[in-house]
Amino acid sequence: MKTQVCIIGGGPSGLMLSQLLHLKGIDTVVLERQSREYVLGRIRAGVLEHGFAELMREAQCGERMDREGEIHDGFYIAHDGKLDRVDLKKYSGGSSVVVYGQTELTRDLYEARDRMGGKVIHNVEDVTLHDLKSDAPWVTYRDGDEIVRIDCDFVIGADGFHGVSRKSIPKDVLTEHEKVYPFGWLGVLSRTKPVNHELIYARHERGFALCSLRSQVLSRYYLQVPLTDRVEDWSDDAFWAELKKRLPEEVAAKLETGPSIEKSIAPLRSFVAEPMRYGNLFLAGDAAHIVPPTGARGLNSAASDIYYLYHGMMDHYLKGDDAGLDGYSAKALARVWKAQRFSWWMTTLLHTFPDSITYDQRLQDTDMDYLFSSERALGSLAENYVGLPF
Ligand code: FAD
Ligand code: DHB
Repeated sequence: MKTQVCIIGGGPSGLMLSQLLHLKGIDTVVLERQSREYVLGRIRAGVLEHGFAELMREAQCGERMDREGEIHDGFYIAHDGKLDRVDLKKYSGGSSVVVYGQTELTRDLYEARDRMGGKVIHNVEDVTLHDLKSDAPWVTYRDGDEIVRIDCDFVIGADGFHGVSRKSIPKDVLTEHEKVYPFGWLGVLSRTKPVNHELIYARHERGFALCSLRSQVLSRYYLQVPLTDRVEDWSDDAFWAELKKRLPEEVAAKLETGPSIEKSIAPLRSFVAEPMRYGNLFLAGDAAHIVPPTGARGLNSAASDIYYLYHGMMDHYLKGDDAGLDGYSAKALARVWKAQRFSWWMTTLLHTFPDSITYDQRLQDTDMDYLFSSERALGSLAENYVGLPF
């Protein structure tokens, strides 16, 4: 098989790039290890920044998002028994975010790829990258007993944190920066009315909690839990009882509970691999960087990678200009590190750290106090949350 761009990973990053390149006449093949049902069964991001929503529209996949997604102009932070609102629109100079599930946008991207005859191959095994430093890299995968070879100009590693692409770069070329947090998020999806029309991030001595949503009939809640906890340890009743304890009384009193339709634990990690290019392999999204989910930056950091790669590929194929591809890693990493800083800051502000000393706790109190006493501090939070420019 031959293609121009071979994309490893059929998550949001890989599918979005494939769709955008297709619309410019650039041929791609997407290789996905899992089945489509499996990818669509993973419950992940819920908050999209303006720039991501724009890319969905440019990819001709924004129609349902614009119809069914909710525009949120603000969110709340619960702390010290109070509920303070962050007016995103006011403090970011007019921007907002879109609440639309990653599952839904991935479904939209798959449908667009099908509609346009895009090649997305599922259930591929043993994906291996070859000759990445040459002008003619190639990729192989196993389909049953058969080894299939794909020749291409470029390989895109959009295969998430556990993918094969980053691991194909020699260790002496790659620098990995990692910070693992001593807790995870236990998430529950339930067919209940959200407790509030906007998100509530709650800082509490028992641990952080988040009230999010997918629609006015579908709620998503998270609790900070120790890394030693297992999903089986948490009955629905135990989850709702703990959530109520971490919310201000007036919010807890309104909480509608019901059976969970999904429950999972995600560990919290910050991670960046640099550079994001090796020969003709380009890393994008979670394959190159991970943030703790607190600032809703993960998918949104992937969006800027895709934007830069899309423009770099267009310049290469349509104008013979390689400046965009040559500058990709540096440009992408500059924005990635800003998302890292913001996610680390929001995580530090809102979580309970098991090994914190009283000095850390007083600083955390002061950070919160400063935030809601300074329009400039709120401006900094708002501009990062709605997304820095690409
Ligand atoms: P992935 O979604 O991981 O996709 C990679 C794909 O590659 C997968 O489908 C995988 O099966 C496939 N793959 C892996 N290995 C191979 C292989 N060897 N061969 C072929 N295919 C392979 N982000 C936000 O912006 N906002 C939020 O509100 C938010 N909330 C989150 C909440 C939670 C609980 C979690 C866990 C994450 C959240 N994120 C959020 C982060 C967001 O979900 C990720 O950043 C996003 O999924 C990254 O997309 P991706 O396409 O780069 O990687
Ligand atoms: C969701 C996840 C986040 O990490 C976040 O900051 C906001 C919302 C969610 O899954 O709804």
